[in-house]
Amino acid sequence: MTDLADIADVGRDARRGGYSRHGFDRVELELRSWFTQEARRRGLDVRPDRNGNIWAWWGAPGPDAVITGSHLDSVPGGGAFDGPLGVVSALQAFDLLRSRGFTPGKPLAIVVFVEEEGGRFGVACLGSRLMTGAITAEAACKLTDADGVTFGEAAHAAGFDPLRMGRDDRALASVGAFVELHVEQGRGLEVPVGLASSILAHGRWRYTFTGEGNHAGATLIEDRRDPMLPAAALVLAARREATSGARATVGRIVPNPGGTNVIASSVDVWLDARADDEPRTREVVSRITAAAREAAVAEGCEVRVTEESWGGTVRFDPDLMARVRDALGADTPALPTGAGHDAGILAAHVPTAMLFVRNPTGISHAPEEFAEADDCAAGVVALATTLEHLAR
Ligand code: GLV
Ligand code: MN
Ligand code: MN
Repeated sequence: MTDLADIADVGRDARRGGYSRHGFDRVELELRSWFTQEARRRGLDVRPDRNGNIWAWWGAPGPDAVITGSHLDSVPGGGAFDGPLGVVSALQAFDLLRSRGFTPGKPLAIVVFVEEEGGRFGVACLGSRLMTGAITAEAACKLTDADGVTFGEAAHAAGFDPLRMGRDDRALASVGAFVELHVEQGRGLEVPVGLASSILAHGRWRYTFTGEGNHAGATLIEDRRDPMLPAAALVLAARREATSGARATVGRIVPNPGGTNVIASSVDVWLDARADDEPRTREVVSRITAAAREAAVAEGCEVRVTEESWGGTVRFDPDLMARVRDALGADTPALPTGAGHDAGILAAHVPTAMLFVRNPTGISHAPEEFAEADDCAAGVVALATTLEHLAR
């Protein structure tokens, strides 16, 4: 049987712990091959789309299709479940449906989206954003990784044509319903399986502070223009301004050149901010930006702010949620989440729902991310039952 254990050794990160699997890197390519093999072994018709996503069809592709799936990439040093659980559960759900003797009345498919975390190229949900036109092919293909490789170059090396990327109306028109199964990422779910109700508005911003590189010992404090100071002010402002359920995080900061005895000449800081709705998220970010600008001026530094990605609040389709509850029981709980998903991008275009599998510790995007085997098994049964109900 296909299991998460099958890929447990792929992409382990010895330095950070957990897994580092990023869109079109060696590890993610290996996982894509693994998925392709697993899908073919089941007689599914595997078709990569123009945007780097892989579709595996049970039956001929066609309109009103019922789609499930998730992603195989991770954050740097991420857990085993975020993404792969949805893919493995989809394969297992297909197996279960076959063992039940189910014959789909509608096309069914599993999709694997590329670069959901944005761990390599910076923008989350890149495959689903490309497919829906939420990002243009031109903008996506220019994104670079830490080594200066563009998404376009990486996609080309993986066999995709950057010139053919972009909004895929045909694929979108074929989707009657999309259901993504995912490990829950907080402590909000108290039963094995639940539904998602909404996703917070969410954006990522890059702040580049520029000062004057100099000697850590020879430069008097009063002579310094140290960009690390406004960078630090930004970190503190993020914590201060994220009130009333908003979240603001600095998880990545890169000083240039980055030496212990060197005053940095510039510092890049990435801010991830989320809140209930768009105006609130923007308000939190504008307060943080004001604090960062003030600190930059005080230190004689400059700051450039770039919005790297943005997505408004997602509310999952009430009709589809009702149909999933018809299948799983009216008491299936639905909970909001602060985590982003390809389902959140698709929700603006097609009826979309999410199934969550309980996470006993609430830890995610870290090696300790966990779900009990029994809960994962319950997730597979719930997904199979949902697909059976939607595709009959
Ligand atoms: C992705 O999981 C995100 O919420 O950033
Ligand atoms: Mn994630
Ligand atoms: Mn995910």
